[in-house]
Amino acid sequence: MKLSTDQKRFLQEWMDFLKIPSISADSSYNSDVQVAAEWVENALKKAGCTTVEIFPTKGHPIVYGALITDSTLPTVLVYGHYDVQPPDPLELWESPPFEPVVKETELHPEGAVFARGACDDKGQMFMHIKALEVMLANGPLPCNVKFMIEGEEEVGSNHLEDFVKNNKEKLDCDIILISDTGMIAQDQPSITTGLRGLSYMEVKVTGPNRDLHSGLYGGAVQNPINVLCEMIAALRDENKKITIPGFYDRVILPTKDEREAMEKAPSNEELFKKSIGIDAVAGEEGFSTEERRSIRPTLDVNGIWGGYTGEGAKTVIPSQAHAKISMRLVPDQDWEEISHLFTTYFKSLAPEGVQVEVQTHHGGYAYVTPIDTLGYQAAHKAYAETFGIAPVPKRGGGSIPIVPMFEKELGVKSILMGFGLDSDAIHSPNEHYGLFNFFKGIETIPKFYQYYRELWENKESV
Ligand code: BES
Ligand code: MN
Ligand code: MN
Repeated sequence: MKLSTDQKRFLQEWMDFLKIPSISADSSYNSDVQVAAEWVENALKKAGCTTVEIFPTKGHPIVYGALITDSTLPTVLVYGHYDVQPPDPLELWESPPFEPVVKETELHPEGAVFARGACDDKGQMFMHIKALEVMLANGPLPCNVKFMIEGEEEVGSNHLEDFVKNNKEKLDCDIILISDTGMIAQDQPSITTGLRGLSYMEVKVTGPNRDLHSGLYGGAVQNPINVLCEMIAALRDENKKITIPGFYDRVILPTKDEREAMEKAPSNEELFKKSIGIDAVAGEEGFSTEERRSIRPTLDVNGIWGGYTGEGAKTVIPSQAHAKISMRLVPDQDWEEISHLFTTYFKSLAPEGVQVEVQTHHGGYAYVTPIDTLGYQAAHKAYAETFGIAPVPKRGGGSIPIVPMFEKELGVKSILMGFGLDSDAIHSPNEHYGLFNFFKGIETIPKFYQYYRELWENKESV
């Protein structure tokens, strides 16, 4: 891929941005998170936003930018995040996570940038800043634009809700545009029409008041790790249905027609298995792999610890055992209700001889969007033009809790125009994002503005 002078500069700027370790989960990186916010502030100014402000929160700052060229035109609000996931386990990275490098891979013969945040979401968010620059270089903007770029997405967007509630006028817009999801393949663009909700829990099982010699006490007292494993096992039955009473009560299953339409989206189970090195898929009875990872709720242990995990062997009955457990939710499950149902049920599973504590971390609602909106149609036309292939709608399995919150607070729909691939390894070691995808995004985004304006004008004139 031969890069133009501008493209080389965009790539260089993106790689500079990736050098900032803006890990929102780890407070020892707070000053880097601040540096990343200032980097975004500066990038928005350079791209042509006339109003740019950093809003401190009790957590990490929110960067806001705007360019209102004509108040009679529609306004696009771009949302993204500059924070990243922790990079560990570090030893599995082939090059250091905050020293971005371009490498060629089978899927990315033109090269991909390897770094934490390369795709999620620094790379995808930065495409929008560069797209603004490109649009302004080519004439007047088809729509007004606003940016809201946050630094706490990866830890639950805890302070964004208040910001949105208190700044409705500032955020006033006609459509929200987000690149923080993926597409099916390089030659099959797709537009994400749904996101799952989330309920994130942490549990602690406490037995004896200290770690004990497992010979002197073993067999006569509860072992908190054994108990925790049994309790976790009881959360799902042999068909992988979640056993929490009431868990499925509000679940809306798409209609038969909707499910048939979804099955038409290209997918390849053999490739899916191969790409993650497994020899068999597993999941809830009665649903396909694609359905299991989009329209069905799940319960997964994300981490489990306790006892002795150091080198060699230590014969011990631990005093405590811990686990982090999260549930992906679908419409119309209510994450606070699910957290409550989980807590009650989990505690009820505790045998005598242990104490159980359950804590709710954060959560969010699921989201679905229709495809007959101006925003969806504009995105459809934009992808169709730049890829030469019509994009297909696809429900996603991940969560962006802010999206349903935008709809509730601002009454505005979000268009999830992602350019990533499942193979980008977001949240994993060796995260990367293709140059093809990055530059295709910068090419497609201005088309969205153009078509959104055109469709909006046609609608106004009828
Ligand atoms: N960008 C992801 C979400 C995503 C990725 C959605 C790919 C669909 C396809 C986002 O940064 C993320 O990781 N969200 C978290 C939730 C958050 C509350 C921590 C997630 O889905 O685990
Ligand atoms: Mn993201
Ligand atoms: Mn993420």
